[in-house]
Amino acid sequence: MNFIGIDVGTSSVKALLVDLNGKVLATSNPEYSFQTPAPLQAETDPNVWWDATCTAIGELLESTTPGAVAGVGLTGQMHGLVLLDNEGNVLRPCIMWNDQRSYKECEEMTEKIGESEVLRITGNPILAGFTAPKLRWVEKNEPNIFAKISKVLLPKDFIRYRLSGEFFSEMSDASGTSMLNVGQRKWSDEILSAMDWSKDWLPELTESTVASTKISEFASERTGLSVGTPIIAGGGDQAAQAVGCGIVKEGMVSATLGTSGVVFAQSDEYRVEPSGKLHAFCHAVPRKWHLMGVMLSAAGSFQWYKNQLGKEEQVMEQSGKGNAYDILTSEAAEIDPGSEGLVFLPYLSGERTPYPDAHARGAFVGLTLRHSKGHMTRAVLEGVSYGLKDSLTLMQELGVDPATVVLSGGGTRSALWKQMLADVFETSCCLVNATEGAAYGAALLATVGCGALESVEVASNTWIKQTEKVGIGTDSPKYKRNYRIYRDLYPALKDSFHNLSAG
Ligand code: XUL
Repeated sequence: MNFIGIDVGTSSVKALLVDLNGKVLATSNPEYSFQTPAPLQAETDPNVWWDATCTAIGELLESTTPGAVAGVGLTGQMHGLVLLDNEGNVLRPCIMWNDQRSYKECEEMTEKIGESEVLRITGNPILAGFTAPKLRWVEKNEPNIFAKISKVLLPKDFIRYRLSGEFFSEMSDASGTSMLNVGQRKWSDEILSAMDWSKDWLPELTESTVASTKISEFASERTGLSVGTPIIAGGGDQAAQAVGCGIVKEGMVSATLGTSGVVFAQSDEYRVEPSGKLHAFCHAVPRKWHLMGVMLSAAGSFQWYKNQLGKEEQVMEQSGKGNAYDILTSEAAEIDPGSEGLVFLPYLSGERTPYPDAHARGAFVGLTLRHSKGHMTRAVLEGVSYGLKDSLTLMQELGVDPATVVLSGGGTRSALWKQMLADVFETSCCLVNATEGAAYGAALLATVGCGALESVEVASNTWIKQTEKVGIGTDSPKYKRNYRIYRDLYPALKDSFHNLSAG
C-alpha cells in the first residue's frame, strides 16, 4: 500500500511516492517559473501547475501500479488567489503568496472591518501576502474579471478541483486567506458580509485528514491514477512541512531554514499574539492550531550573499575545489561569535515577522577596516539566526516552552549554522530523518485519511525519528550583546528604509 504526497510549490511541483512505513520510493520534481509582470507582483498560470502535477504523477507511477496507490495527499504554496468562472476556467493568473501589490487594500480592509475585529476573527492582521486583499485588488482593478468569479480557490485546492471536479479546502490553508474565523474553524460571515462577497465562491472546508474527494475519470486519463482513488484534504505547505517534521503535539517547535525562514509551534488551544506579530493558524492536525513566524529572506539572504559577494568561491566550486557555501562558512567559522561588532539585518525582501513591513531593507551595520569577508559571512548567518530568534521569543512570551527545536531546510547542511541556532536560541535543537518537506507531510496525512494509520500522532511516531542532537554550546552567551543591538536596529532605521523605498 503506497501513498502520494503532492506539493504545488512556487517554482516546482514536488511529488513523492511513500510506503506505509514512511519510506520514500520515488520522487518527481517538475519545475516552472513564475512571472513578475510589475514590481511587487508575482503570478503563475494555475494550468502550469496542473500540467506539472500530471507529469509528476506519471513519473511516480513508473515505480508502482495505480492499484497500489491507496491515497493522494495535497499541499502547496499558501495564500495564492485562483479565480474560476462558472465553467471552471481560470479567469486570470494566480496572484501568489509573494505578491505585495495589495498593501493599500490591506489598509482599506482593516479600516473598514476594524483592526481589533480583524485580529479577533482571523487571528492575524490582513497582510499583502494573504488572499483577501488580493481579491479586493481584483475587484478594484479588474472589474470585468471580478464580475465573472464563480469560485475562489487556493493553489492546491485548484489541483484538487482538476483531480476530482470538486471544490474542497481545509482549515490550515484557509487560515491564510483573512476570510477564515480561525478560532471557530469556519469561513467568517462577518468578513464576507463586510466586503459584500459571496460565501458561494468559497469551497467547503474539512479537517486535513478527511478524504474529501476522489480521482475523476478526466483526471484518471490525464494522470494514470485509478478512478476513485481517495484525495485527502492535506494542508498548507507550512502545516504539512511541520507534520512532516513531527510537529504534532503541544509545545513542539520547528525552525526551517529555507529561502524563507519559518518558526512553527503546535498549540492545542487557539492563541493569538496580542499585537498580531505571529500568525495564528489552524494546524493540519485536526482541531489543533499553530503559531508561526515567517522571515522572508533566511537562507535566501545567504544565497544572495553567495551570488553577489562569493564570486571567487563560485569559481572555486566550478573548478572542483569544494562547494561555494562550504568555503564561505569555513571562513566564517574562524571568526569569533558576534563577528567583532558587525551586525547584518536580513530584510532583503521586506519582512513579515516580527516587522510586517514590505519596505524594510537589508543592512550591514558596524563595518570597520578590521572586518574581512569571513566577518561579513558570519554576520549574515548570525543576522538570520537572530531573525528566527525574534519569532521564537514571541512564542516563548505566549508560554510556548520547547525542550528542543526541530531544524530543517537547506541551511541545516552547515554544522556552523546549526550550532549557531542552538546557541542563539539558547535552546537545544535536533534534526529528524524526514528531509522531503511538505510533500512528505501530505503523504503522511494521506495515510490517516485512508484509515491506514489511526491518527497524525501515530503516523508521525511511525515515520519520524530524531537523527541528530545539537546542544547549547559554550559560545551561547557571546551572542547576547549583538542580539540586543540587532533588536534596536530595525526601529532605529525604519524611517530611513521607508525614505529609501519612496525613491
Ligand atoms: C506561508 C507562506 C509561504 C508560502 C510559500 O505563510 O507565505 O510559506 O506558503 O511557500
